[in-house]
This record gives sequence, structure tokens and C-alpha cells, in this order.
Amino acid sequence: MSTSLAWDERYQGGGFQFGEAPNRYLESLRPWLRPGMRALALGDGEGRNGVWLAGQGLATTSLDWSPVGSTKAAALAVSRGVALATVTADAAAWDYPEAGFDLVAWIYLHLPPADRAAAAAGALRALAPGGLLALECFTPAQQGRRSGGPKMPELLWSRAIVEELFGGLEVLELLEGTVALDEGPRHQGHAEVVRALLRKPG
Ligand SMILES: C[S@@+](CC[C@H](N)C(=O)[O-])C[C@H]1O[C@@H](n2cnc3c(N)ncnc32)[C@H](O)[C@@H]1O
Repeated sequence: MSTSLAWDERYQGGGFQFGEAPNRYLESLRPWLRPGMRALALGDGEGRNGVWLAGQGLATTSLDWSPVGSTKAAALAVSRGVALATVTADAAAWDYPEAGFDLVAWIYLHLPPADRAAAAAGALRALAPGGLLALECFTPAQQGRRSGGPKMPELLWSRAIVEELFGGLEVLELLEGTVALDEGPRHQGHAEVVRALLRKPG
């Protein structure tokens, strides 16, 4: 059974594994954001994305199964003077509130297929009508690159997986390709990713 222990260990040391700045794709979506929107940062780790969303005026919940990550996320929010709700939970088993969020940020959360499907169903339920899902994850082409990502191929994403799991959402953007990552010590260099911005009808 997978647990958060490996992530707890990674986060235990000083510093931020993926930096303190938000993911660039998420940051590029700023024109879609409005203060007061409710955001869920899924698998938010040390909180760089949740804290940035909170700084944009969004009422943000940062969810991760690593208590060490969530504690660091909460501390980062305090240091930035923003409000951030933290939840320590398994993204595949959390009780997602129906229509509870206007944005779900799914940034580099890589789960085994059954857990991925369960978390995606939860994210879909949690999106309010008109709500946005923003995703950036590694694809199989990332294998062999040293710029980050899971070792197990079944955890990787693709455009086809996005289409399968989020087929009910309107595609605003859906791209697979090479990007340059500069995100803390763990995401450095060229990388192969899928990026998606999807909207729930309504
Ligand atoms: C590659 S890190 C990305 C962290 C963050 N999204 C970022 O971009 O900085 C993946 C995160 O997913 C979390 N994670 C993995 N499996 C999870 C699960 N089943 N439930 C909740 N969080 C999970 C890990 O604890 C880790 O913080």
C-alpha cells in the first residue's frame, strides 16, 4: 500500500523541493482567476501553488497526504500573510464537497490508475458549474529525462488520459509537449508534460 512516508522524508529537510514560486503554467492562468473564487490545490505538497492562489485572493484549500508537506504549506502561507486552509488527506479517498470549488489545480499529482480515477471523479464532483480544472503532469515521454517525475510508468499522464477522465469538461486548452522547468531542486531542465485547462459546463 502506498503511503505518504516517502514524501514526508523528502519534505523533512530544509528548503522547498519544487521551489516557493508557483508552477509557471498555473501562474499563466492568472487572467482566468478572480478574487473570491474557491480553489482546491490537490497534492499541493509544500504549498507553493496553494499559497500563490491564496495570494491572488482565492479562498484556497491545500490538500496533500503528507502532514510534513501540509505543515510547510501552512507556514509558507503565514510567512506570506495569506489565509490557506490545509487538509491532510488521501486525494483518492477524500470526501470531495459537491460543487465546493471554482478551481481545482492538479499540478504534478501522479497516482496509480485506480486512485487517479477516484481522485478525478472527486475533482469533477467538487467543481461548481463553470468551474475550472488546471492540470500539469508528466507524460511517458519524460521517462529517461532527469528533470523529475515518477519512476513507475503507470503513474504518468497523457492527453488521452485527460480526455478519458475529464471527458465531460469543455476543453479550453489541452497540450502535450516539451517545457523548460525551473522549479526548485527536483524539477530542473527540459521536461515532457501534458497541460490542460478544462471547464465544467453550466
Ligand atoms: C511532485 S509533488 C508536487 C507537489 C505540488 N503539487 C507542487 O507542484 O509543488 C506530488 C505531491 O503529491 C502528493 N501526493 C501523492 N499521492 C497523494 C495522494 N494519494 N493523496 C494526496 N497527496 C498525494 C505528494 O505528497 C506530493 O506532495
